[in-house]
Amino acid sequence: MTTADDRADQGVVLGIETSCDETAAAVVVGGRQVRSSVVSSQVDLHAKYGGVVPEIAGRAHVELFTQVVAEALESAGIDPRAPVLDAVAATYGPGLVGSLLVGLSGAKALATSWGVPFVGVNHLEGHLFASMLEQPDMGWPLVVLLVSGGHTLLVEMRGPGSYRLLGQTLDDAAGEAYDKVARYLGLGYPGGPAIDKAAVEGDPTAFSFPRAMLGDGFDFSFSGLKTSVVRTVERHPEATTADVAASFQHAVVEVLVAKSRRAAEAVGARGLCLAGGVAANSLLRRRITEVAEEIGVPAYLPSRAMCTDNAAMVAAAGWWRLEHDGPSPLSLAADPTLFLAVQG
Ligand code: KG4
Ligand code: ZN
Repeated sequence: MTTADDRADQGVVLGIETSCDETAAAVVVGGRQVRSSVVSSQVDLHAKYGGVVPEIAGRAHVELFTQVVAEALESAGIDPRAPVLDAVAATYGPGLVGSLLVGLSGAKALATSWGVPFVGVNHLEGHLFASMLEQPDMGWPLVVLLVSGGHTLLVEMRGPGSYRLLGQTLDDAAGEAYDKVARYLGLGYPGGPAIDKAAVEGDPTAFSFPRAMLGDGFDFSFSGLKTSVVRTVERHPEATTADVAASFQHAVVEVLVAKSRRAAEAVGARGLCLAGGVAANSLLRRRITEVAEEIGVPAYLPSRAMCTDNAAMVAAAGWWRLEHDGPSPLSLAADPTLFLAVQG
């Protein structure tokens, strides 16, 4: 239940997320306490095409938006006719332009009609805030590995709003590699969870897939992996899907974890943190936990629901942005290629 006291004390924010194929809304108090978080996934609509179809995603957001927002308000105990709210925050990039526009325009309209500030949120910064929702007492700096369907970033986070980019993918994102390989193996969409599941029964040493740039700086390259998987399967038609999935996953995770470890040591990090959809991966979570223990720092792993796209992280980042930068102008445009604002 959200009360007038919440508003007076800390700030109640409605967050809205529509950057890709999840229509999500959430109510978060004081940037920390999640009062509701509703995520309506469009996975079923896109599965038969093997990936997200932008036009279908945009139309589905239009259909789902009102209901998802109403559910988020209702389960937070907020009356939409007299809402106890201090701001409406929405993702304005990066993402699919048609999808972004639905959430962004809807958020501006709601903020205007309720007479509260509107705040635009960078989706990547939202993912960085996801851990803080569940781990209020993190020490800084952190090394955050942000791995999603569209991005693979290693970031030194010195505190909320203070980021230094250490490395990024030079081609495909880690999630994209999972999705491409899963499609090739006939495991469906989204590929990450499917490979994660298939790999459980497989032998991770059955095949040796490339570990691109393993010992080389903090950047990543995953574009050669799918070709390598295709060649291997052609050469070994007897290979089981489980063995290929496990070997592929092993290769991806080994590189992600090795670079995260080196980055944490290089910056003297006081924690190792995962963010983004691929952070839901069970092997990555296990390996990051082990490595953090080896180097003597805590591992911060958001719950799986907080790894994948959601609006609670948008509300949390939105509240912080509102306090530090003030409201965004209603003229703020959707920015499909928005990057994380980094310093240093
Ligand atoms: O952050 P997210 O929900 O959306 C983007 O901002 O991209 O991430 C989606 C990505 C997809 O590529 C999906 O296959 C991947 O995260 N993913 C996973 C797992 N769950 C989702 N990858 C590996 N293992 C998982 N368990
Ligand atoms: Zn995301």
